[in-house]
Amino acid sequence: MAEQKITTSVIREKKIKGEKITMLTAYDYATAIVLDESGVDIILVGDSLGMVVLGYDSTLPVTMEDMLHHTKAVARGTKRALVIADMPFLSYQVSTEEALRNAGKFLKEAGAQGVKLEGGREIADLIRKITSIGIPVMAHLGLTPQSVHQLGGYKIQGKDDATAKKLIEDARMIEEAGAFSVVLECVPAALAGKISQAVAIPTIGIGAGVDCDGQVLVINDMLGMFERFTPKFVKKYGNLNAQMKEGVKKYIDEVKSGAFPDEEHSI
Ligand code: KIV
Repeated sequence: MAEQKITTSVIREKKIKGEKITMLTAYDYATAIVLDESGVDIILVGDSLGMVVLGYDSTLPVTMEDMLHHTKAVARGTKRALVIADMPFLSYQVSTEEALRNAGKFLKEAGAQGVKLEGGREIADLIRKITSIGIPVMAHLGLTPQSVHQLGGYKIQGKDDATAKKLIEDARMIEEAGAFSVVLECVPAALAGKISQAVAIPTIGIGAGVDCDGQVLVINDMLGMFERFTPKFVKKYGNLNAQMKEGVKKYIDEVKSGAFPDEEHSI
């Protein structure tokens, strides 16, 4: 029997049952197959692709075309997991009409089952409109990388009482607006725990401690593929950078020495 397809209802039920939710990013077909076959619940086509795949120094230059292209590849490789696509900077902030059309493209053209938007109370009305046309929304609070210049860098958020209170209120507002879940990025673990108790929708943490309802990491970071910068909260479950270099160096040596191709690999 085919495994149960993960839907937004399955994700919400997991919180009710106290089961942790797993989410990882993917940006291509082959990685999506690995994640899906390994049993991850949610595959996020994050706009982090701007940094770990496209070589930009922030997520700001990522376009709708970039996101649609990579979401299509991920959706083709995914059978079971829920596929969520990040809406890139300026694809939802300029007008409601543009935001609705762009959100719709991720479901209609790219095969995603929902979209993620950064922000709290300021996007609550927009979340209401996007969900009212049948598009599930995952929200994103705390460190919101599309606002890096306004935040003054990639910093921990909600450290004092006033900003912590605001984050709890924001979480309640986006829940009330219809978001089915929320990413909490770089907030103190105790605050993330409070937010997780304050709302019925699942919280998915990144650098937000163990009391979130689920966890997310960027696949390139957690498999040790992207070595230039590793945030403190990333645990490395692999060392692909070193393994890839070792393989490539061996190939170079063998081509130079004539050891490759040998008889086994010749026609
Ligand atoms: O873009 C991304 O990959 C994200 C995750 C880090 C949550 O937003």
